[in-house]
Amino acid sequence: MSDFDIRSLIVRELASGQFYSGSDLGSKLGVSRAAISKHVKFLQSLGLEIFSVTGKGYRLDKPLEVLDVGQITQKMSSPHTKVEVLNVIDSTNDYVKAKLVDLPNGFTCLAEAQTAGRGRHGRKWVSPFGSNLYMSMAWRFEGGFQALAGLSLAVGVAVTESLSQLGLNKASLKWPNDVLLNGKKLAGVLIEAEGRPDSSCVAIIGIGLNINMNQDQGEIAQPWTDLAKSMNRIPNRNDVAALLIDNMHKMLLIFQQQGLAPFVESWSERNTFANKPIKLIIGDEEIHGINTGITDSGALILESVDSAGKKVIKTYFGGEISVRGL
Ligand code: BTN
Repeated sequence: MSDFDIRSLIVRELASGQFYSGSDLGSKLGVSRAAISKHVKFLQSLGLEIFSVTGKGYRLDKPLEVLDVGQITQKMSSPHTKVEVLNVIDSTNDYVKAKLVDLPNGFTCLAEAQTAGRGRHGRKWVSPFGSNLYMSMAWRFEGGFQALAGLSLAVGVAVTESLSQLGLNKASLKWPNDVLLNGKKLAGVLIEAEGRPDSSCVAIIGIGLNINMNQDQGEIAQPWTDLAKSMNRIPNRNDVAALLIDNMHKMLLIFQQQGLAPFVESWSERNTFANKPIKLIIGDEEIHGINTGITDSGALILESVDSAGKKVIKTYFGGEISVRGL
């Protein structure tokens, strides 16, 4: 059995929240107590809270609903998508990227933890074990990179749609691809493209959705939140995954034919900064204006007044919105 398999089995055994002694786990999995202790340390280093009590053994601080392919596919409205669940991986986006050649459209990979989870602009995406959803979906586009314009905004719509179906209606979208709850980051989207810029390419759509983080997340540089805080319960991650996959699949079938246009209205209804003054930061430049919406290709529309008092409307494809100091 590989280290990977042993760790998966340890997590499955401990998931009930009961105590298991190192020697019981060892004999069940056919490895020594020392080996169990080594694997437990590794899992702890990934953020899985395993307590060790002398004379009793190991126990999770709370029961864990492990991600399970069978449960996810059973909950999906139709088994249109191939789903794979991994225990620990560097990044689900990288995993999908490495497998691209033989992947069916819509292939989705989820992991319990990421050791090198990535956000936009090279930032780290904090990915502790068993707390959240880390998922990547592959989708082929024939129109080259241009066909991907606005895709991250449509993904935002699919995420908020899934949240509404879970009973959470107040999530909002921050251009280009953050999902916020009460002004704090709940989910992020990282899309990477592989292939020929001018013909067939594959979008690797990574979504990180915070479900039940530990409080102690000093590494995250911005205000964040998770579903558990707003829902007063911890939603089952397999339910959330199934909803997300279904909504992503539905969205992508439309998007590949019509692009962002059919989603602009839904996106705009969820726009955190609709008709509000914002500043757009592009490198060292700060552009101030009122955010009056987005275009059909996903550009941000900013309205401002020039020095002669004339209204100026401009669109932007890059940059980050900030309202700090306004
Ligand atoms: C962001 O808001 O900066 C984007 C965050 C995207 C995180 C997800 S988690 C699954 C996938 N794998 C990664 O390494 N990143 C994305």
